[in-house]
Amino acid sequence: MGVPRLQGRRLVLGIGGSIACYKAVSLLRVLKAEGADVRVAMTASATKFVTPLTFEVLSQHRVAVDLFARHDAMAHLTWGEEADLLVVAPCTANFMAKTALGLGDDLLSTMVLAAPCPLVLSPAMDGGMWDHPAIQAHAETLRRRGVTIVEPDIGPLASGRTGRGRLATEERILEALLGVLAPRQDLLGIRVLVSAGPTQEAIDPVRFLSNHSSGKMGYAVAEAARQRGAEVVLVSGPTSLESPPGVELVRVTTAEEMHKALTVRLAWSQLVVMAAAVADSRPKRAAPHKLKKAAGALARLELEPTPDILSSLSRLRTTQCVVGFAAETESLVPHARVKLRDKGLDLIVANNVLAEGVGFGSETNKVTLIDRHGRITDLPLMPKRAVADRLLDAAKGLMQAAARRQPREK
Ligand code: PMT
Repeated sequence: MGVPRLQGRRLVLGIGGSIACYKAVSLLRVLKAEGADVRVAMTASATKFVTPLTFEVLSQHRVAVDLFARHDAMAHLTWGEEADLLVVAPCTANFMAKTALGLGDDLLSTMVLAAPCPLVLSPAMDGGMWDHPAIQAHAETLRRRGVTIVEPDIGPLASGRTGRGRLATEERILEALLGVLAPRQDLLGIRVLVSAGPTQEAIDPVRFLSNHSSGKMGYAVAEAARQRGAEVVLVSGPTSLESPPGVELVRVTTAEEMHKALTVRLAWSQLVVMAAAVADSRPKRAAPHKLKKAAGALARLELEPTPDILSSLSRLRTTQCVVGFAAETESLVPHARVKLRDKGLDLIVANNVLAEGVGFGSETNKVTLIDRHGRITDLPLMPKRAVADRLLDAAKGLMQAAARRQPREK
């Protein structure tokens, strides 16, 4: 291992009552190995899975469990004040709900409420609980409040079922902590234009042509760029997502509107990332009244192509770096290469949208980056936010190389 990345950092590791408690032991070892000073606070249920003694020995601090313990009656207030970050791993469904609702009925929940430092929750839950609308609503509430949620992994669960609910790996939790503690500001001063979501092309007042894009990929790019210091404008088709903090959101509905919104901002931008799933065709005319099925008008719908926004932006650009996506269902790399060339892009992010956990609607994506020099980088399945960072890294590299070349070309 190189330089310990958490040297001098004070963390509180909160542990909820889940079978995944045993994994918190190795997480604690990783955090210590990275140089962090870690204090552990457990819920009473967590102590039924692993004893406080284990964490006491490894953390070299007394473990806090009891809100009314005489030896450190103020731990629920002081620990959070003294920490750089509080991470709860594993975080149970119950603990997440309490945190979202602001309940403080034991030491750890009270500590979370009182802590002024950043909070990271790493949920672990079985039996489809993660997908329950109540849990998803709590996760959304917490994210809006600035809490970082490390999405659980997919895989075999303690019950013997398979699904999303496994505690994230130590590596992913560590990456999230490092991201929260020291956000990179490597895109400071860069202006980034991002598109996201689907477009909707009206057939009549009640029907439209569209696709399954949720906007998650594009919003993740906007969020990542903003967190890394960029100024970001996000042009989004209809989605149910909220704008990432600090990002200017421009809402559009049709391909035509998206085209205009992006074109007028092109000159302002230095980097364009086109993650939107633009409808490829639209009805020639939107009917002013609801079309009657019986009249057969729907079967005779006449379509025309929508503008190819990306090609148009890359024709109009001056010095901007232009990144596109390719949503493929077969021959991923050959098809993406053709789009990279035909649309005049610097970088294309290719995803096979038929694969599990990839493309439309999922929290994760698995992409292949192909740049204008033909370099191919295959990335593993990872959260869309992590994909966003990797594509921004690649785009930044291309922009820096172009800037180095420019003086010689003059
Ligand atoms: O939104 P999510 O649910 O998170 O899903 C993410 C995603 C699957 C939408 C995303 O990862 C993705 O692949 N986005 C591109 C979808 C797409 O339209 O791909 P395409 O291969 O059809 O188009 C290639 C490129 O041209 C894309 O950058 C697209 O934005 C652009 N395009 C396409 C058609 C058009 N008329 N104008 C365009 O600019």
